[in-house]
Amino acid sequence: MESATTEQPLAELQLPHLPLDSTDFAADPMRYILAARATHPWLATSDFGYVVHEYAAMKDLFRHEDGNMRVPLDGVADILDVRDTPWGRFMNEQVLNLHGPAHQQLRAIVAPMFTPRRANERRELMREKMRVLLDEWVPKGAFDFEEFASYYPISVMCALIGAPGEVIPKIRDSLEALGVALSMDPKTIPLFQRAMLLMDEFVIDLVARRRAGERTTAVADLLDALIEATGQGLMSERQLYDMLINLFVAGYDTSKNVMTLTMHALLQRPDVYAQCAEDLEYCKLVIEESLRYRSSTSLLRELTADVSYRDVLLPAGTLLWFTNPVIGRDPDAFPDPERFDPWRKDPNRHSAFGLGAHICLGQFIARAQIQEGFHLLAQRVRNPRQTGPVGYRPFMGAGGLKGLPIAFDPAPAG
Ligand code: HEM
Repeated sequence: MESATTEQPLAELQLPHLPLDSTDFAADPMRYILAARATHPWLATSDFGYVVHEYAAMKDLFRHEDGNMRVPLDGVADILDVRDTPWGRFMNEQVLNLHGPAHQQLRAIVAPMFTPRRANERRELMREKMRVLLDEWVPKGAFDFEEFASYYPISVMCALIGAPGEVIPKIRDSLEALGVALSMDPKTIPLFQRAMLLMDEFVIDLVARRRAGERTTAVADLLDALIEATGQGLMSERQLYDMLINLFVAGYDTSKNVMTLTMHALLQRPDVYAQCAEDLEYCKLVIEESLRYRSSTSLLRELTADVSYRDVLLPAGTLLWFTNPVIGRDPDAFPDPERFDPWRKDPNRHSAFGLGAHICLGQFIARAQIQEGFHLLAQRVRNPRQTGPVGYRPFMGAGGLKGLPIAFDPAPAG
């Protein structure tokens, strides 16, 4: 992978430029990527750092994770000049921004709470949350799918930690605000600062109530496990609050965007959509293919040492965006990538949940909730068709659709 031959300094390369923050790019990134590949196979520039858009380059460079590469969320706070604010502190101290032993220790404490078995045990709870939503929304016969989908991951997360349903609308607004923070638009700063304070109040209150004996179910849940770890001195009080906020922040717009992007893709494939209603196992394959086909989350890294890769010298301090939403369409990794095929047997796995040390902690919860949710949804929301134009969220961070108006044939609960 790496070479000892003459390396070209990064600054001297002729690289294509990608307008990562433009709506046109968010709407059709592949158009730009295909043009960029003609100039350079794996690297481009942007106003926000370099862009890696090839699967093999992403995989190779991620071998430097926790050695020569780190998550620079504190740097994002610096760019926005908000380091000493509640949001800046959270960006700096949250699990995604921790490195080396500090990250490994925290991850080791919480990982047993997020295994496939733990996620599978909560599938009935996930189905229950989707049924409640469908009972409320299906009689309308038409709605904005993105809005509908936004309530599902919050409802599931609230149920997983025993938070009362009344908080959902308030949390949803906060998560929407926090979700755009990585778009690095200074105009959004007051919004996400306010949202941060609200999320803080919410989790501090939730923990205090649980400690005082208030609970919504008799079954021990994720909140109990996190409080217990804190009681044993494995996590600090602040880490407990940050982890709870993180579960909402990391799981909200990612899950909602993947659901909306999946629905958007399946509007072109009514056969696939209809089969999701019939067969949960098939639906699982569809969700996996959707994660490859058009995922939501790009990953940001900063090199902490010089790295040479394919004869290019990438100096310490280089910011790299790994553009997952298009990396799943790399033809060298995924043959015939434009074909949406739930049965595909690619030699590579998609990287929608990231790679390396920070690979998504909630990936099994995410998969289980989207699989169960889509299976039930396809049974009740029959023959969906798009009734208006879609918008696009900023590509950086968690991208996806902004609005997906659909009409459909309502079906009663089975
Ligand atoms: C389809 C939905 C989801 C997608 C596509 C997704 C994607 C990702 C990606 C790409 C990363 C790595 C980011 C990086 O390395 O820079 C990540 C990390 C993370 N995700 Fe998810 N995620 C999803 C749902 C969830 C859910 C539901 C939860 C919580 C239950 C969650 C919790 C986390 C956490 C805590 C991290 C940070 C892990 C660490 O730093 O060690 N995610 N996610």
